[in-house]
Amino acid sequence: EGSMSRAAVLQTALVKERRDIRSQEQRQMLDAVPTDLNRSWEDPMSDGRYLMQELRGTGLSAQSVPEWKMMHGKAGKYGHRSSLSIQQQRQSLPIFRLKNELIKAVHENQVLVVIGETGSGKTTQVTQYLAEEGYTTRGKIACTQPRRVAAESVAKRVAEEFGCRLGEEVGYSIRFDDHTGPETVIKYMTDGMLLREILVDKDLSSYSVVMLDEAHERTIYTDILFGLLKHLIRRRTDLRLIVTSATLDAEKFSGYFFDCNIFTIPGRTFPVEILHTKQPESDYMDAALITVLQIHLTEPEGDILLFLTGQEEIEHACECLHERMKAFGDDIPELMICPVYSALPTEMQSKIFEPAPAGKRKVVVATNIAEASITIDGIYYVVDPGFAKLNVYNPKLGLDSLVITPISQASAKQRAGRAGRTGPGKCYRLYTESAYRNEMPPTTTPEIQRVNLGWMVLNMKAMGINDLLSFDFMDPPASQALLSAMKQLYSLGALDEEGLLTKIGRKMAEFPQEPPLSKMLLASVDLGCSDEILTIIAMIQTGNIFYRPREKQAQADRKRSNFFQPEGDHITLLTVYEAWKAKGFSGPWCFENFIQVTCLRRAQDVRKQLLEIMDKYKLDVVSSGNDSTKIGKALTAGFFFHTARKDPKGGYRTLADNQQVYIHPSSALFHQQPEWVIYHEIVMTTKEYMREVTAVEPRWLVELAPRFYRSVDPMKVSKRKRQERIEPLYDRHSEPNSWRLSKRRW
Ligand code: CDP
Ligand code: MG
Repeated sequence: EGSMSRAAVLQTALVKERRDIRSQEQRQMLDAVPTDLNRSWEDPMSDGRYLMQELRGTGLSAQSVPEWKMMHGKAGKYGHRSSLSIQQQRQSLPIFRLKNELIKAVHENQVLVVIGETGSGKTTQVTQYLAEEGYTTRGKIACTQPRRVAAESVAKRVAEEFGCRLGEEVGYSIRFDDHTGPETVIKYMTDGMLLREILVDKDLSSYSVVMLDEAHERTIYTDILFGLLKHLIRRRTDLRLIVTSATLDAEKFSGYFFDCNIFTIPGRTFPVEILHTKQPESDYMDAALITVLQIHLTEPEGDILLFLTGQEEIEHACECLHERMKAFGDDIPELMICPVYSALPTEMQSKIFEPAPAGKRKVVVATNIAEASITIDGIYYVVDPGFAKLNVYNPKLGLDSLVITPISQASAKQRAGRAGRTGPGKCYRLYTESAYRNEMPPTTTPEIQRVNLGWMVLNMKAMGINDLLSFDFMDPPASQALLSAMKQLYSLGALDEEGLLTKIGRKMAEFPQEPPLSKMLLASVDLGCSDEILTIIAMIQTGNIFYRPREKQAQADRKRSNFFQPEGDHITLLTVYEAWKAKGFSGPWCFENFIQVTCLRRAQDVRKQLLEIMDKYKLDVVSSGNDSTKIGKALTAGFFFHTARKDPKGGYRTLADNQQVYIHPSSALFHQQPEWVIYHEIVMTTKEYMREVTAVEPRWLVELAPRFYRSVDPMKVSKRKRQERIEPLYDRHSEPNSWRLSKRRW
């Protein structure tokens, strides 16, 4: 009878949940999921799954409600870690037994591929072993990570193990955040940062060892580092290169690096039972949340890891879980809810690794960062909806966008493996077995074959690599993609007609950000508004600063609209930052205004870092005194590719490709719909929405992007065209000859 009433609570919570489960935007995002991996559960094989079926149906019978008690069948599991000293923990890692062999292998092999299960100790131990062995007397040990959070959290852990403070012997360096010092000998860094260092010092002369960690992630930076290091090790025979990977790519890596040896760390894993849904699941978020609760309520103790695709989804999921747990009341065991994504504020990161207190369960809700980059102990249950957000170049729009994409089979296996680190586990796949076999690609396409190569080309040119087509890529990018990146850089003025770096291009390469942003910043120096543009650039790179809690959406929207500026979203962002600054960078002020204080702090950091680079190159920081024309022109100088004009038939058309696009409902200009706009990016949901939109004047385009736009001679065009007065200078059919790939330099 008691359980009946709790069931009723659960039922109401779920019904309410489903009604307003997601904001409009999230719903649209889900609508845009590219395949129809619609799912529902497999035949019920255990109590758990039939509970869920009941919850999802209309009726909830008393029998289907399980005991609301957590079993303690695996008592003593928690606290295992904290009861061991940090040195004992190190010694209990699988890699420890192989320490001497590993050191010997590094001595004897200039390049070594190291493979081993995630959690075997590669990232945290190899650097320390080599430091103990004296490698740091000849230089630093670099260890690259594809993700910021991983670099940061691993460095913290290793500093602790090493017995120093972060930034002393052990430090980390990620974009806009450097925690290293003169004593630093073990340096964790993002692969992008090492690439920047190579730009400055081709020989990496301050390093004795480079470890390209998580190389299987195949980020664009790792891929370029592959090529550069392959070249460098021939010159610097004392440099040691270690390439680590968690998966099947070892042979390929070895083949690329002169058939080098592969060092294998035998894994220590437990079996993982894999459950697929019987039917495709249409709403993976809903299914994922129910599955998590179901595990919590019916399965023995052990933590849960849920994979979602990004910050917004994760925050939403955590919020829902909090609410549902609250609705259950005190009768069921507590659930510690830990979000993990790359923009997560530092102070929250350590929480991920803390074991749940005895009797409680932890659920970690993470992006695919938790697939291999970071290891969380104590996970027994993995919930895998089968999606990840990938940066994908959209040739139609001429830009990258984050798209929710089905993961590969390799990723799915890797995810499942996370449940078998501490004991036998279970993986709940929210997709059918047939989807796994037939719809998921075996492996993920390397980033270099997916994204816009503008930044990469600019930086390679800055390194003096002019002949990109014959660069030794492990998997070369499409020549069409290289060409379009070079065209973009030419239009920005970063390359000349010959494809060589210009003075402004060289300056642009100094900034760790996309070329259009750097161009915008440099243009703002000349236009006299660099103070404002610095803030705008910092704000634009920090993600969604406004939040909309579900129960207070109207209020949040009202507060946000107080900041709206008639020029558009860029100046709105500037206004928010200035207002925050005027309040002494106050936290409570953010809270009152539904603004994410962590985002603003990050913007403050980014701004500071950019300012340092500007100082270094003696670029003036000048305020326009809020002359919005100057600001609008600077924005145009960087983002002229992203111009759209109002379509009389509704929405907008992009100038470059005549694509239909719309102003995002959250924009300051949503109601205004000015004739000409530039936008920062397109998000693809049910429609192709422009985000961060600002009104511009067409003559700015001609003035600031003469290589891309020109005015049309009114005598030579049709009446219709005459009204437009402006057209893109180039199209696919009228490229200058020098853009042909046959030209040697390309
Ligand atoms: O690189 P690999 O996946 O082989 O393992 P690792 O990252 O070196 O992790 C080895 C162990 O260090 C894990 O089992 C974690 O318990 C611990 N670790 C940690 O406590 N905190 C971190 N930030 C990273 C690792
Ligand atoms: Mg690792």
